[in-house]
Amino acid sequence: MTESIVKPGLEGVFAGETSICAVRPEEGKLIYRGYDLHLLAEAVSFEEVAYLLLYHKLPNQSELESFDQQLKSYRDLPPALLETLRSLPSHGPAMDTLRAATTILALYDPDLEDDSPEANLRKSMRLLARLTTLVTAQHRISQGIEVISPNPKLNHAANFLYMLRGNSPEELEVRVLDITFILYAEHEFNASTFTARVVASTLSDLYGAVTGALAALKGPLHGGANEKAMEVLLEIGDPDHAEAWVLNALKEKRRIMGFGHRIYKKVDSRVELAKKWGKKLAEKEKNTRWHEICTIVEDVIRREKNLFPNVDFYTAPLYYLMGIPIKLYTPLFACSRVVGWSAHVIEQKQKNRLFRPNSLYIGPEGLDYLPLAKRNPP
Ligand code: ACO
Repeated sequence: MTESIVKPGLEGVFAGETSICAVRPEEGKLIYRGYDLHLLAEAVSFEEVAYLLLYHKLPNQSELESFDQQLKSYRDLPPALLETLRSLPSHGPAMDTLRAATTILALYDPDLEDDSPEANLRKSMRLLARLTTLVTAQHRISQGIEVISPNPKLNHAANFLYMLRGNSPEELEVRVLDITFILYAEHEFNASTFTARVVASTLSDLYGAVTGALAALKGPLHGGANEKAMEVLLEIGDPDHAEAWVLNALKEKRRIMGFGHRIYKKVDSRVELAKKWGKKLAEKEKNTRWHEICTIVEDVIRREKNLFPNVDFYTAPLYYLMGIPIKLYTPLFACSRVVGWSAHVIEQKQKNRLFRPNSLYIGPEGLDYLPLAKRNPP
């Protein structure tokens, strides 16, 4: 009976409807509001994808300009929040500071308690604009260096690199980062998005939903995998060591982060693009070592375990080549996925039904009560 009604991890369960995104594992396809991801990634900017996810259509020129202007106007952080960031411990995981700061950010949002679709769109845009500022500011504070304000002339991706390093990023780097933002923007009912929808279904606010989603994203089985994947690549270090490393890891039954997926069983549709742009960057930087290691690890794991890489395995070396600190890889994922989370929160609230599944009780029943003094010591 248990096996037939309980679905651990909700595997195979359709927990709701969405018109935001479709994962088509059989065809190796990912669709954002009707558009094939590959088509979008080669042709449009992350800002256009963000608009598409939030407003259900690709923007025309003037809509994009006004969206862009709005994002730029929201990018600065409240000065008091910067002060709070300075008072936080500098050694903690960046995802934890980001989660704490997002909760605090809510208190500065004039629309916090307004649950109308219009207010939720404004909050979504503020969060989208500010997460990159938060991540870079918090990183620079933790390094004891001056925080760099957003540059109103730069887009989402370029601003991230500019605020992180303090100089103008190169064109190819910006394009590649922009592509990874597009790849990470949305992925239907993954763990973090589902968390956001569960929070939203209680009619709690958008910031609360995003805070919950950030907590879910941090885990190494989800967004945290891109940081762990880079640690694996560094541990291998050299293409000549890659095959032996994998064989040994599999022998020790290690879970190799950046491999496998609950929905995709043959190919993760995002990998091809991450690989392609990562190779371009590696060739430009004249450093193909990580790409070579990735290729060998991928081949050996496919041969030995019939497992394939997911997007995190190929974004990790790409961020490494850009000189982005490893502890920022998962926060960087959040800087993009926040738009998907927001779109889902808005969709959930439009046709809400509280998430409240059942559990199958498997504990004891009918136990006798003993007064405290008569219970056995531990
Ligand atoms: N390394 C080694 N073995 C693996 C891996 C892996 N990364 N992933 C799955 N397996 C093996 C399991 O050990 C298990 O083998 P067994 O049947 O011999 O015991 C089998 O594959 C099935 O594993 P499950 O955990 O049941 O598969 P599930 O579909 O639930 O897992 C998950 C999906 C959690 C993503 C898993 O593949 C994993 O842990 N991957 C590593 C973490 C990771 O990369 N996460 C990022 C996902 S993508 C994203 O969030 C953007």
